[in-house]
Amino acid sequence: MATSNILPNYLLLLFFLLFYFSASTAIDIQIHHSTPPSSADSPLSSILQLARSADPARLSLLFSQKKTSGGTSVPIASGQNLLQTPSYVLRASLGSPPQALLLSLDTGSDSAWLPCSPCSSCTPAAPPFSPSNSSSFSPLPCSSPLCPLLNAASQPPCYAPSSSPCSYSQSYADSSFTAALSRDSLRLALDVIPNYVFGCVTSVAGPTIPKQGLLGLGRGPLSLLSQTGDLYKGVFSYCLPSYKSYYFSGSLRLGPAGQPHYARFTPLLKNPHRPSLYYVNMTGISVGRVKVVVPGQPGAFGFDPATGAGTVVDSGTVVSRFTAPIYAALREEFRRQVNASGAGGFSSLGVFDTCFSTDEVGATPPITLHMDGGVDLTLPVESTLIHSSATPLACLAMAEAPPNVNAVVNVLANLQQQNLRVVLDVANSRVGFARELCN
Ligand SMILES: *[C@@H]1O[C@H](CO)[C@@H](O)[C@H](O)[C@H]1NC(C)=O
Ligand SMILES: *[C@@H]1O[C@H](CO)[C@@H](O)[C@H](O)[C@H]1NC(C)=O
Ligand SMILES: *[C@@H]1O[C@H](CO)[C@@H](O)[C@H](O)[C@H]1NC(C)=O
Repeated sequence: MATSNILPNYLLLLFFLLFYFSASTAIDIQIHHSTPPSSADSPLSSILQLARSADPARLSLLFSQKKTSGGTSVPIASGQNLLQTPSYVLRASLGSPPQALLLSLDTGSDSAWLPCSPCSSCTPAAPPFSPSNSSSFSPLPCSSPLCPLLNAASQPPCYAPSSSPCSYSQSYADSSFTAALSRDSLRLALDVIPNYVFGCVTSVAGPTIPKQGLLGLGRGPLSLLSQTGDLYKGVFSYCLPSYKSYYFSGSLRLGPAGQPHYARFTPLLKNPHRPSLYYVNMTGISVGRVKVVVPGQPGAFGFDPATGAGTVVDSGTVVSRFTAPIYAALREEFRRQVNASGAGGFSSLGVFDTCFSTDEVGATPPITLHMDGGVDLTLPVESTLIHSSATPLACLAMAEAPPNVNAVVNVLANLQQQNLRVVLDVANSRVGFARELCN
């Protein structure tokens, strides 16, 4: 079977990526690979080729999505197989006539950006967006009130004439890009959002810029929710399929219609120093039936807007991170219950420090995240362990927060959100979780 050859490669690639990027300075960022652009026959190219060459009827079919219970549903796939990047991508299109795009889904970012032609230093995985081929495209002038939102301090001043473009630079992971703030019609499923403001990327520096671009789903003024005003009533949800999945079987569901009634909700917290992020009040973690005790730190899980401490739900980070004291306590309890002492003990691999032989160790205890409001989110085993299919090796798929500004933040990341519907109900200040298979 093809999969037996393919899966180990993905696992190795993932380990490589996690190792490579574990040294990067931010965690509320996405992680991207630095291999050369895919060849013309890659799955991504074929998908985009298909969309571009299709006639309008075929195109609208391609981007139409069944409206099961109302609401807008945008297909999501793992970027692992499509783009060799451990992020999740959604289908969108931009411009008139629409040009097909795959954009990373990032609740930790606000603005959208994507490579535009011409861009000499971009290495897009597919032909980049062509502004000159879109009749609805327009660049924003630097006199636009939106221009200072892109980190005004580092921007060149708006010289006369004020009609010169709003050009800005932004860092992302350990790379950066330069873009021109622009607007055009964004399509998500059947919805058309005219004049969507995004960055048209004209040059990149560094290896970690997503080749395909990104859609920001954060809480700031340039995010999808903010730019669509009342269209989605401040509510969306997503279900991420397994990172190993090949299909667009996940979904971004926009608006209150069709959201799961059986979701369990915890209050959404807001940190004025990090206003884009979705904070929740995680109050504890259990391994099996044992509640993890963080020695000498009764307030270990506390939310503190002054320091940024607390717990963030993020679709753009790959591996969940916990503060050093919490992670140490969690790992010790997990190791104690797994007891690999008869199996050669535990080894490390990349960012993972609790790997063991699955030949010697049987069932592992489930991990449950406790949140305010009575939410007890028990992670399925595929969201707790990452397995090698080449060797009988599994690792606890979580890690310690990096020793930087994010050292005080716990991040519930996308490996731990597979096959889960996460409802971000900003209108009602709550975050919901519902088990859903979307593989
Ligand atoms: C614009 O569209 C034409 C016709 O489809 C195509 O040949 C050309 O490559 C496109 N231009 C860019 C910059 O993509
Ligand atoms: C762990 O496993 C070893 C060897 O299999 C066994 O001797 C020991 O009693 C176990 N410890 C616990 C706490 O279960
Ligand atoms: C977090 O939840 C705990 C337990 O319910 C509660 O005591 C605390 O006040 C909550 N913190 C915030 C910031 O809501």
